[in-house]
Formats: sequence, C-alpha cells, structure tokens
Amino acid sequence: MSNKIYIFDTTLRDGEQVPGCQLNTIEKIEVAKQLEKLGVDVIEAGFPISSPGDFNSVVEISKAVSNPTICALTRAVKKDIEVAAEALKFAKRGRIHTGIGTSPYHIYQKLNSNPEEIIERAVAAVKYARQFVDDVEFYAEDAGRSENEYLARVIEAVIAAGATVVNIPDTTGYCLPKEYGEKIAYLVNHVPNIDRAIISTHCHNDLGMATANTLAGIVNGARQVEVTLNGLGERAGNTALEEVVMALRSHKDLDYETGVDTKQIIKTSKLVSTLMRMPVQANKAIVGRNAFAHSSGIHQDGVLKNRETYEIIDPADVGVKESSIVLTARSGRAALKHRLEVLGYKLDKDKLDHVYKNFLVLADSKKDISDEDIEVLVGHEKKEERV
Ligand code: KIV
Ligand code: ZN
Repeated sequence: MSNKIYIFDTTLRDGEQVPGCQLNTIEKIEVAKQLEKLGVDVIEAGFPISSPGDFNSVVEISKAVSNPTICALTRAVKKDIEVAAEALKFAKRGRIHTGIGTSPYHIYQKLNSNPEEIIERAVAAVKYARQFVDDVEFYAEDAGRSENEYLARVIEAVIAAGATVVNIPDTTGYCLPKEYGEKIAYLVNHVPNIDRAIISTHCHNDLGMATANTLAGIVNGARQVEVTLNGLGERAGNTALEEVVMALRSHKDLDYETGVDTKQIIKTSKLVSTLMRMPVQANKAIVGRNAFAHSSGIHQDGVLKNRETYEIIDPADVGVKESSIVLTARSGRAALKHRLEVLGYKLDKDKLDHVYKNFLVLADSKKDISDEDIEVLVGHEKKEERV
C-alpha cells in the first residue's frame, strides 16, 4: 500500500457552512489559488445545486486552478449530479462527490427508507455520476454511527458501480479514535473489492477527536483525508489540515508523505481567517498566535539554550519567521537578557539585576511587556547611572 496521503481540502464547502463565513466567488478563487500553492490534491469547491453563487464558484475555480482535482458535492439525486457535472465542465480533472446516509437515523428517519433501497439509490447515483466524470467519490453520511457490516455492503456495491474514492464520514463527530480506526480496518478486511478505491476519512470535531480519528483512519488504511484550514466547519468544525499534515511530518517514523508545502500553512490560515472573518483561537495548534510563543521563565530559559527543549516543530517549517519569547511577569532573567541583546543592550550582572527588578514591578501591572517598555526601563537605568 502506498504511503502517500492525499489531502482533500473542503474549506470552501464544509468549512464554508459555518454561519456568517460565506465567501463570494472572488474570495473563493483567492482561497483556491492559495490552496493550490499549499499543494493540496483535491479542492472541494462547493455544492453546485445549493445556489447559483455556489454553482458559479465551482465554474470559476475550475477555470482558475489547474493542479488540484476540483470536486463538487451532490446528494444521491440525478438533478444534483447533472448540475455538478455542468459546473465542473472547465475542470482539468473534475470529481463528483455523491452520497447518502447509511446510519439508522438517516435510513429510517431522515430518508424514510430501508437499507436495501439505500444501497440501490447509492449505486444508481454512482453509476449516473460516472456517465459524466471518471472520478466519482461516494460518501456514506453518518458512517461513524452506521453498522459496520451494513456499511461494508454499501461500500462494496458502490465500488462495483464505479466509485474511485469511498468516504467514511464521522458526520456527527461521535467516534473515538479506536472505534473509527477499527471501522476503517473492518472495511479493509471485509470489502472484497476495496483495493479498487481509495478510502477517505472525513471527521468532525464535536468531541475534539477529529485529528485523532483521522490519524487512526490513516494507520488503518485510509489514504485520503478530508480537512479544512483552521479546522473550520459546521458546529465544532472539521479536521484541521495543518494538524494532520504536521502530525505526519513530525512523526517521520510513521513514514507517510503529503504533497503539502508546509511553509505556506500560516499564509493560508491567515487568508482563510481574514476572508471568512473567523479569528483563530490564540492557542490553536500550529496556527494560533501562541503556538510558538514562550512566556514562562523555565520554558524561555530552555528554549534559549536549545529550541527543541520546548518546540517539536521548527516554526520556519510552517512559515513563521521564528518563535517568540513573550515578556511577562512569569519571565526570567534569561529572557530579559535575550530581549535586551536583541535590542542592542549588553548589561553587566548588577545592571541586569536592577533592570530585572524594575521589569517585574512593571510586568505585574501589565499583561505583556513591549520593546518600548524595555527601552524605557533601560533608559531609566542609564539616567540613574549618570546621577
Ligand atoms: O459530514 C459529512 O458527512 C459531510 C458529507 C456531505 C461528506 O460533509
Ligand atoms: Zn462534513
């Protein structure tokens, strides 16, 4: 089995389902072009039947972007598939992503149907989509809460009907990593034609498990991951692209590779956050403001001696110039001395002790200390010396 993990970015489809985050076509093209620079393999550009705006965005992204596959979402409904095919007509490589719910909630309540009819509808949708494109991905909505034996029957049938990728969404973010990993392993072991398709993960973050579940999916045989920048998405969001990519890169022992140019991660994260008006939480893994900031004295001392004491990722690898030493009342002499040296001051021990004492008094009254504050403290020291 190949160790290449395909990155399917759904920031512009599932990510954009966040209330208040809607983008216009020009903004979507800007994000799509940046996703291309980032090196994702697939861009899910929208759900064309849902609105004329979404249809138009899929058309324009298909024209603007040439390396990634462009994917359009549909329900297992003929009209949806026809409209998606039409929206993808300018795509160099187009994919239709069609599917239907496979959990009891979906089969009996949402769709008022039965398991056999769901399989028929799934097969019909995949066969119909294959009349328009060679690349058809099938999603089994709410696979996370679907019964494994039934799910395996659905997946076998849609692969036989021509699905090239089979997506196993944990739509409600319900699974635990062990459970989700076992679900993927079950399909690998019980679907006879599974080798003819790529298994995809699509995890939601309702219990904060999306990244862990995605990684569990990979180690059990999934080779595509569906992700969004900054983990944007409905409710608690989707799996964050930056977390999966950097987890795989940091754990070289696992021996997986992606085509992502990780140095573009911060730039892409900021673009998405700005255009979608969704600030990134300060302590968000990889892309949060504090992800490479050290504020306590013990950590600062360690990082100044050897960055790797408290950093598992070189900030330059994700496009951050360098980690920062934030001066607060918890900072030690080592951090203050370092900042003074950056600002061009070399103080002897006594002077440093004196400035440090004044620094602590000031730091107790402020959240953090700026370079201007330091200049004032040192200036004050000099004046005192002159007197
Ligand atoms: O979460 C989900 O199940 C989805 C599907 C439409 C792929 O977003
Ligand atoms: Zn989803």
